[in-house]
Amino acid sequence: MGYLHTFSPQILVILAIYYTLTTLTTFQTRKHRQSLKTQHNCLPPPKYPHKDPILGTDLFRANIQAAKESRLLTTWLQRFQQHGATFSANFLGAPAICTVDPRNLQTILSTNFHDFGVQPLRRDATLPFLGESVFTMDGVFWELSRALLRPTFGRANVANLEAFEGAFLRFLDLLPRGGETVDLKPLLCKLFIDTSTLFLFGESMGVLDEETPTASQEFLDAFHYAQQGTGRRLQLGKLAFLYRDRKWRESVKVAHAFADCYVDKAIEYRRSRLAAKDAKVGDMDEVGDDEPGKRYVLLHEMAMQTDKRENLRNQIMHVFLAGHESSVISIGNAMFQLSRHPLRWERLTAGRSVGGGRGAFDC
Ligand code: HEM
Repeated sequence: MGYLHTFSPQILVILAIYYTLTTLTTFQTRKHRQSLKTQHNCLPPPKYPHKDPILGTDLFRANIQAAKESRLLTTWLQRFQQHGATFSANFLGAPAICTVDPRNLQTILSTNFHDFGVQPLRRDATLPFLGESVFTMDGVFWELSRALLRPTFGRANVANLEAFEGAFLRFLDLLPRGGETVDLKPLLCKLFIDTSTLFLFGESMGVLDEETPTASQEFLDAFHYAQQGTGRRLQLGKLAFLYRDRKWRESVKVAHAFADCYVDKAIEYRRSRLAAKDAKVGDMDEVGDDEPGKRYVLLHEMAMQTDKRENLRNQIMHVFLAGHESSVISIGNAMFQLSRHPLRWERLTAGRSVGGGRGAFDC
């Protein structure tokens, strides 16, 4: 892998064109932003102390280095601690506001959601791996993707706990019983990979089993490598095309091929459901949409709405990305904190039996 190691004349010309275009766009948006500032009476945020205030290459290089050393999040945390919860910075010539202020996050992700977007920052860098869906698109395309996902999430909230019990019991079996110290992270990772793939694809990847199936391991390795490379492309922003890594391209192919197998099965499921519907000459509800005990599989439900293979793959890649690591980190962190705060643990578990089988988690 290698990028930005050398700046050849061709690359310098590309950079010059890029910066000219960026400057023109910046000029137009600056006018618009100025009128918004006046309208909302905004004060300027503190400025990041750049060594290179013109292009912000110091911040860019520091981010690349931190990412290489897997300490990007800590680096950002330190910056926010040092410069405040909101500050302005220069991202390769483009003005940026960096914030972790909860009021800003609430405004961006919830109350004024429609005034903000992610597409210009995310779409191009993530396209080869993730395609277009909820995390990378705005507007109508985001709404369409969200509409595809929404029905299953509503039902899953209330209907799917039993399906996950097998994986959860296998997870409990892997925990030592004699009070030894255990690293929960890899085990939680396995738990959420098995449960999320059961929900997303209709089949668990079986990574909690004694021996992880080879195809599952290959997919996970490829997915995580492709995810890492996509993170680097995101950091490069409009210069993402400078990211050159054959292993990354191959990983993307392996991950897509694995997801496509499940997409094809889902399209087959759609065919058989539609055939059953034709045989019954009724609407979809009559072929068992709401039969008691039915296990909802996200990919199958989406395939009932569209049979576009690439669209289905994009959606499932996005939800797989969203659905495992975030849960592992949240639950892992909760366990880490609870094990250090026994009073809170007692309050949480008071009156409940933990790990006591069915019904123990009816909170
Ligand atoms: C505790 C665990 C979780 C946390 C902390 C979490 C956090 C988040 C955050 C911060 C976002 C906004 C991301 C952005 O676009 O910048 C998001 C979006 C999303 N998450 Fe989660 N998530 C969790 C679990 C899950 C699970 C289990 C799933 C699915 C199986 C999921 C599916 C999604 C989807 C589809 C979106 C995109 C929503 C949209 O743009 O409308 N998340 N999540």
